[in-house]
Amino acid sequence: MGEPGSEHASTEAMRSFWDRKARENPMWFVHSTLDYAHPDPEEFWRSGEETLDSTLEPFDVDITGRDRVLEVGCGVGRITRALAQRAETVVGLDVSDEMVSRAAANLAGLDNVEVALGNGRDLSSFPDASFDVAYSFIVFHHIPDPAVTCNYVVEMGRVLRPGGWTVFHVSEDPTAHLPENRPDPGLGDRLRAAIGRRPRGTKEAQWVGAAVDRADLLDALRRGNLDLEASVGDGTLYCLVYARRR
Ligand SMILES: C[S@@+](CC[C@H](N)C(=O)[O-])C[C@H]1O[C@@H](n2cnc3c(N)ncnc32)[C@H](O)[C@@H]1O
Repeated sequence: MGEPGSEHASTEAMRSFWDRKARENPMWFVHSTLDYAHPDPEEFWRSGEETLDSTLEPFDVDITGRDRVLEVGCGVGRITRALAQRAETVVGLDVSDEMVSRAAANLAGLDNVEVALGNGRDLSSFPDASFDVAYSFIVFHHIPDPAVTCNYVVEMGRVLRPGGWTVFHVSEDPTAHLPENRPDPGLGDRLRAAIGRRPRGTKEAQWVGAAVDRADLLDALRRGNLDLEASVGDGTLYCLVYARRR
């Protein structure tokens, strides 16, 4: 793994950024269409259900009560909770201690969920063929090194049982990650950020993230023994991929 941005994609760099964001405003940094100053918890949890439906619907797949599901980048459990209502068991993995501890508290009433701290780069704590479904949404486009994202794709293939499937989100639009395309906040916004009324750190590499080339993605799917079934939003910041383990 040695793409541009790789120095920002160490475990420590990603963990430190996301720990700070979880302390700053966990709901907004997980679901950034909320009002930063007054995030609405009901809207937040409802959005988890809606996101799960809208990301599975294009591929005509759903989670069943027999599925063991892995969610990569679970945040504070927004989608994990919706997954748990459908699956037999769910493991939510995240690089951030602070996100994981908030997810554990938010999901404490659910006995089919575990949350786990990962190293942000692989799934080495899980054995081969131990899940039926691997899911990830709005995580990989934040990872500054596309080689790390591709490694996660290979790893999702490894931990899926033959016949298992994955739906995940990646960015395929490099222009969406150019610092010059991130609006420079004016003085007013910078002051509001300083006093806690605007998000801080949205120009940092772990937020800006990176796009993945289709050729590299296809290579990662091949290395993970995953067959690409379909994708939507090709070439955009919101590309969803559906693949099945051979
Ligand atoms: C925008 S939040 C989305 C959380 C969740 N997927 C959702 O939609 O509610 C991105 C999450 O990805 C996690 N994350 C970022 N980089 C990661 C990495 N390399 N490995 C695992 N998790 C990562 C962050 O800690 C954060 O919790």
